[in-house]
Amino acid sequence: MTNQPDIRLQVSKAYAEAVSRPVSNGGCCSGPSPKGVAARAAGYGEQDLAGLPEDAVANAFGCGNPVAFSEVEEGEVVLDLGSGAGLDLLLAARKVGPTGRVIGVDMTPEMLERARRNVADQANIEVRQGFIEELPVEDCSVDWVISNCVINLSPDKPRVFREIARVLKPGGRMRVSDIVVQDLPEEVRRDPALYCSCISGAIREEEYLQGLRAAGLQEVQVLERAVYSGTTLEDFVKSELPVNQRSCCGPSADMARSLEGRVWSARFAARKAPAAG
Ligand SMILES: C[S@@+](CC[C@H](N)C(=O)[O-])C[C@H]1O[C@@H](n2cnc3c(N)ncnc32)[C@H](O)[C@@H]1O
Repeated sequence: MTNQPDIRLQVSKAYAEAVSRPVSNGGCCSGPSPKGVAARAAGYGEQDLAGLPEDAVANAFGCGNPVAFSEVEEGEVVLDLGSGAGLDLLLAARKVGPTGRVIGVDMTPEMLERARRNVADQANIEVRQGFIEELPVEDCSVDWVISNCVINLSPDKPRVFREIARVLKPGGRMRVSDIVVQDLPEEVRRDPALYCSCISGAIREEEYLQGLRAAGLQEVQVLERAVYSGTTLEDFVKSELPVNQRSCCGPSADMARSLEGRVWSARFAARKAPAAG
């Protein structure tokens, strides 16, 4: 997949389908991959998830827990890129409290609808439709940018990095959990199901770090990595996105399994330079 509108369309369709799948349905050929497995595997503790709407937990498609590992404080403004069904919005809202604000941006109408339902009783959360490459957010307006397993899906990552730098306030910080890869075979790069499953569109960790620096961000670093085993990668494809039989138990799942050690989740941190003087 190389064409930008086509990638967005395919990705949006895949996530519309994923969020519409019944909670109880593993959806795949062999072995259960019930919804909700992804949240726990991504590193959310029972304490994080307690008291949150079941639907937000069941429809988490992240690869980390960026809010838990941030120093978000009461009264701050947090922006979540690709906010999905809203789990990280809810966790961030707990941290910023009633005097803070949390904004989620996502392009998929079905995800937006689900997130709005899941955050309905939280006055400090707002969900906006938009692309992460053209954020519907004012310059220098947020204290934190967070994101969970989304930037790998963007066909124009340098533009996303520039958008992060644009919307952060001077001194504002970024915590992003995302998939990075090394040495992906060409057939994996070309597989649309593996693109939508957050693997084929992912870039190398060094390229990610350079992209953030090139956008003008500082203190760019990787705080943590979780390297996936072949079985975890297969489960990831199955539980994240049973787009169709091909991705679920066909060649795409087999390809995913063969990528052991070449795909990992990294937690990135960066900061915008503080105002001079
Ligand atoms: C893997 S899911 C992650 C959702 C959420 N962050 C989570 O942890 O559950 C990717 C989400 O990003 C959204 N997305 C992907 N590419 C996007 C883009 N270019 N602009 C806006 N949203 C995008 C999808 O609609 C989907 O909701």
